[in-house]
Amino acid sequence: MSFADGFLWGASTSAYQYEGATTVDGKGPSVQDTATLAGGLSDFAQGSDGYHRIDEDVALFQQMGLKAYRFSVAWTRLYPDGVHFNAAGLDWYLHLLDQLQAAGIEPLVTLYHFDLPAALAAKGGWADRATIDAYLTYVRTVFDAFGQRVTYYQTVNEQNMVLAGALQQVQAGTLSLQDAVQGNHHLFVAGAAAINLAHAQYPHIKIGPAPNLVAVYPLTPTPVDALAADTYDALRNLMFGDMAAWGRYNQTALATLASAGVHVTITPDDAAMLAAATPDLLYFNYYNSEVVQAATNGPLPFKKVPNPTVPQTEFGWDIDPLGFYLTLRQLWDRYRLPLMVTENGLGAHDTVVAGQVDDPARIAYLREHIAAMARAVADGVTVLGYNVWSAVDVVSTHEGFAKRYGLIHVDRDEQGQGSFDRLPKASFDWYRRVIASNGATLD
Ligand code: BG6
Repeated sequence: MSFADGFLWGASTSAYQYEGATTVDGKGPSVQDTATLAGGLSDFAQGSDGYHRIDEDVALFQQMGLKAYRFSVAWTRLYPDGVHFNAAGLDWYLHLLDQLQAAGIEPLVTLYHFDLPAALAAKGGWADRATIDAYLTYVRTVFDAFGQRVTYYQTVNEQNMVLAGALQQVQAGTLSLQDAVQGNHHLFVAGAAAINLAHAQYPHIKIGPAPNLVAVYPLTPTPVDALAADTYDALRNLMFGDMAAWGRYNQTALATLASAGVHVTITPDDAAMLAAATPDLLYFNYYNSEVVQAATNGPLPFKKVPNPTVPQTEFGWDIDPLGFYLTLRQLWDRYRLPLMVTENGLGAHDTVVAGQVDDPARIAYLREHIAAMARAVADGVTVLGYNVWSAVDVVSTHEGFAKRYGLIHVDRDEQGQGSFDRLPKASFDWYRRVIASNGATLD
């Protein structure tokens, strides 16, 4: 197996999960800061204390040999209320870029990772078209401030999971289905506008969205299950990939929404904006595959069911490296866009024993997924980089701090108690060897 010279071996974090310091240097609240969390789960107030420990972390990244570090900018540091600029919030990112440059690590910047300014959410969030303009103002600020130092940008992290979150609000009765889907459309337009802005005025930038993609399987070979899987795939994956690559909605997805009574309002300006926005590459996050079967008793013609044929993580996520191979080759065959994996990793209850964290399950997961990627590369799929989620233990989006993904352990508990000291795990050394061999050594 062989990866191209310059392959970007990296690792990821996101601002609200990593930085902490949620009220420092003028930062405003995001929807993550104001979210109501399930009882007992850590909030995001401290994260991994990355805001105060970034120098130490970048030094560890350099020691690991990372070629890339993927992080997100907190919109609410730059625009605390979504509208007024806060220069103090920018300085920390400029310092981070200095540190990365000195360490020879390529920055991969996510412009929006689940952390909408709470002030904009209060005015209607993505269902309100004004949020598109606010996003674009923020994006322009980042492009101007980061200048030539940043080449790789993701417009939106996991827009399909943002929609999934909105659908939970629909179930809870706090948002209409129509607003959830129209908000998703506005987010498509915002991402397209950012791509068009970059291409018009910042030609060095390589930009695209970063959806979360899964391989989808029918539970049985019956035609009804195959149809259900295809419909689910259209709504779950293809709607986001097709919009990214071709600037138009997947027809099965639109038709399925229409049959549930939802009609997206697409203005002529929207259509032009979307059609013009061709990404330079398709970033995506992959963790697992999913199985569906036909359903006749709900608004949608499918339902997700467990997969009895693959192992699971301690947190019940399916482990399916073959699904990763399948996803990589399907994406390349369908879109012919260079790919970059922005997240892949395993969440576990890691513990420190005699001053060490042994995480063989994580190493096995990463090894199998990198081997699957190598197989796709050998087939001729163009993959520019691969980023482990996560560089450092961070607060999980859904399951608190007990669910750790990091290559570097952080000494803190669910209540935010601890020294926050860093301790490289066994996977850190393993990944260092993988990077040093450019993916030739996975043992
Ligand atoms: C992705 C997100 O959905 O998966 C990350 O981009 C997230 O923010 C990661 O943390 C893992 O999900 P979780 O819920 O296990 O933290």
